[in-house]
Amino acid sequence: MYHIDIMTLFPDTVGDVLSESILGRAQERDYLRINTHQIRDYTLNKQKQVDDYPYGGGRGAVMQADPLYQCWQHICSQYPGVRPHTIYLSPCGKTFTQADARRLAAEYDHLILVCGHYEGIDQRFIDAYVDEEISLGDFVLTGGEIAAMAVADAVSRLVPGVLPDPECFENESHWDGTLEHPQYSRPAVWHDMAVPEILTSGNHAKIAQWRRKQSLIRTRDRRPDLYAKLDLSSKADQKLLQEIAAEEGRA
Ligand SMILES: C[S@@+](CC[C@H](N)C(=O)[O-])C[C@H]1O[C@@H](n2cnc3c(N)ncnc32)[C@H](O)[C@@H]1O
Repeated sequence: MYHIDIMTLFPDTVGDVLSESILGRAQERDYLRINTHQIRDYTLNKQKQVDDYPYGGGRGAVMQADPLYQCWQHICSQYPGVRPHTIYLSPCGKTFTQADARRLAAEYDHLILVCGHYEGIDQRFIDAYVDEEISLGDFVLTGGEIAAMAVADAVSRLVPGVLPDPECFENESHWDGTLEHPQYSRPAVWHDMAVPEILTSGNHAKIAQWRRKQSLIRTRDRRPDLYAKLDLSSKADQKLLQEIAAEEGRA
């Protein structure tokens, strides 16, 4: 079973979101266990205060190292003999990608995700107990919860058994460096817009080619950075590129 423990000031909100739908069922079936922990429960003061003023001055408050450590230590004590891989969600971290989700799902079976709040957390906790810092993107959130939920969700769906079949995620955007083709469902015509004819043809080989072509066009147009990294040297891709060029009047 894959374990994810999340240290947060909002355990109920985080727990509720991550126990819905696919991830909820995966936990019922024991493929996955996501636990949330209230950092305030690990303070020694009556007010359950977890933050204090920043040394050096400035606005806001910083989450203190000790409640974080006590909470982290409590989680670790439940898994004797292993040190869970500990991640601090932070705008100063490396930007999270699908490759990170794959790595975290494949290389570990237990993650601790630490959510900061206010101005962030005391650097000494990071230095001593955090293995990596992950950012959701180049923007600042009020807390690490949304980022932790995103990481937990993206990793969990790659854990064997959580989705019915690896095909469920292997054909999706970012798995092979491309964006996914457009998707359609019933009815075949909606608001005078018909589904592309090929998709109702029943010709699976042609459908696969059409999807690959759409995926290449989409990746090229929306994410030239990803497109530039693709290896399109196969005969099949070269043929599709020629078709695309012809359709766009470039050949
Ligand atoms: C207001 S932010 C602190 C920002 C920090 N003072 C800075 O300038 O880097 C509070 C918390 O939200 C979380 N957070 C904010 N932006 C994030 C992002 N882009 N990715 C992941 N976590 C983020 C972190 O856990 C952080 O401790």
